[in-house]
Order: sequence, then structure tokens, then C-alpha cells
Amino acid sequence: MTSSFDADDFFARSMFSLSLAELDEDQRWSTWPETAHTLDRGPQPFPDWVVQHDGAIDTELGILKTGKEADAFLIDRALPAEQLTGAPGEASLLVAKRYRDPDQVTFHRSSAYAEGRRGADSREARAMKKGTAFGKQVAAGQWARTEFEVLGRLWEAGLPVPYPVQIVGTELLMEFIGTDDEHGAVAAPRLQETSPDPATAERWARLMREAVLDLARLGLVHGDLSPYNVLADSRLAEPDPVIIDVPQVVDLIANPHGTEFLRRDFRTMCTWLRSQGASPAAVDPEEWVAAAWRGWETR
Ligand SMILES: Nc1ncnc2c1ncn2[C@@H]1O[C@H](COP(=O)(O)OP(=O)(O)OP(=O)(O)O)[C@@H](O)[C@H]1O
Ligand SMILES: [Mg+2]
Repeated sequence: MTSSFDADDFFARSMFSLSLAELDEDQRWSTWPETAHTLDRGPQPFPDWVVQHDGAIDTELGILKTGKEADAFLIDRALPAEQLTGAPGEASLLVAKRYRDPDQVTFHRSSAYAEGRRGADSREARAMKKGTAFGKQVAAGQWARTEFEVLGRLWEAGLPVPYPVQIVGTELLMEFIGTDDEHGAVAAPRLQETSPDPATAERWARLMREAVLDLARLGLVHGDLSPYNVLADSRLAEPDPVIIDVPQVVDLIANPHGTEFLRRDFRTMCTWLRSQGASPAAVDPEEWVAAAWRGWETR
């Protein structure tokens, strides 16, 4: 016998209509249900803090940083306050990395230019721009997808990277590295913004070396490794490095400049760590390069 009244369903529906009226301008329904395809979600099993409820709301708390190709926003994904019980998976902070989609801006402009004004050189150029914008939109989606997939691969391999939660179009959602207490949410600092004591610099040198050797064992080079693209995980009493910003990773073997990228990454990282007091032996870029190749060959 099936009941004609499903209390859970009724409750869910009334919550839905109740909350619907309450969405503010900086809110949207959680886009998790849109990522129905497993390839659009992070590696499984999902960490317990990942919010999977259909009725969760994404609230944009602010912008973390604007960049050339992407902007990073802080997102609170949570059930409505009255449904929170304190269990994991009801609320979490996320970073939305949104790759620029120039199409949204340029498309309307291009259409306007096209109206009854075809032919002149400048208009031809504008029309071309429309194509370019479209091309860039596709490219933006590919950058986001690449970053999402690389983060998943590295996370599964145990590297210190943010967990990639999901991808929808040009927007990648990942684990927020930072703290959230009575003072509000504070993103972890980039290494560049920190002044570690020599002992910490030495520890970071060892951890960064391990991480990049792990990367090399996977046949990958970060390609843009610097103290700007490594965060000091402020959730820990002794912050460990967390590597971010990976859309440009380079294939160590297939890329003819693989070793050059490797060397450049290592030099940048080692130079900074050295300036913070790490010992020369711990941050010798040539030693890192040799170890990376050994690691690859004996993987
Ligand atoms: N998961 C995260 N947790 C906390 N902060 C983050 C996270 N991801 C990115 N950020 C912040 O956003 C900034 C920009 O991120 P990222 O470096 O990935 O983007 P970007 O647009 O490529 O930046 P840039 O071009 O300046 O290198 C980071 O420097 C960091 O401060
Ligand atoms: Mg960056």
C-alpha cells in the first residue's frame, strides 16, 4: 500500500515555495543538482562537508580576487537557516572561480552594431569580434574544465589542493581554504603575503618539494608555480602549503618545453623559500629537477 500523502515531499515543497520568495539578489538555488553528470562533480566518495541537498541556497559573500582570465568569489552554500541541524553537508563555504565569458558583454554590443550597419570596415571588425567572443567563451569553459579535472586528479593522488566540488560551464566551485569564525570568513594568505620563520620556511621547502615531485610522478608540471599560487592553510595550527591555480599545467613528457617549465617553477619557488630562510640544500632547484626526473622514471 502506498500512502497518497508523502509528508517529506509535502514538507520539501512548502519549504521550496517558502524559500523561493526569500532569495535575494546575491542568492541562487544550489547548482549542485545541475551537475547531474558525475564528470561535473569532484572525485568520489564526496567529502562529508559537500552540500548535496536540492534545497540549498548559494549566497555570494563577496569577491576574493579579480584576475585577467578569472575572478574568484566566496560562496556560502547552505540549507535555509531553519533547516540547519549542525550535521555535516548542510552548509559550507566554497570558492567560485569564474572564467571570463566576454560573450555576455560583447554579444549585445555586437548585435547592436550589426543592425543596418553592415559593410563598413569597423563593423566588419565588430562582427569578427562577435566570433572572437564566442571563441573566448568556449575557451573560458575549457580553462575551467581543465582546472577542474586537474584538481580532481591531484586531489585523488593526495596532493595538497582544494577539493574541486563541481563545474557548470565557466564556473568551477572548490573547497574554500581559509577560516570562518565569529570574525567572518578569511581566505588563507598566499605564501607571498606571509613571513614564515626559518624553521617554517624549511618545512614548507620539504613539503613543496614533495608536492612537486608527486606532480612530476604524475607526469605534470604546474607551469605557474609561485608564492602567489600557493596558500598557507590557515585552518591548521601550523599552516601547510596548498597549491592552487592549475589550469595551465604542462605535460612533463609530451610538452617539448616540459623541463624548462619544471626548472622555471622550481627556481621561482626555491628563490622565495630561500629568501625566507630555508637552507640552500633544501631549495636547490637543480636538485629538485633531478629528483623530479628520477621520480618520473621510477614511478
Ligand atoms: N580554494 C581557495 N581558497 C581560498 N582562496 C582562494 C582559493 N582559490 C583561489 N583563492 C584566492 O583567489 C586568488 C585567485 O585565484 P587563482 O590564482 O586561482 O586565480 P587567477 O585568476 O589565476 O589569479 P592570478 O591570475 O592572479 O594568478 C588566489 O590568489 C587566492 O587568494
Ligand atoms: Mg593565481
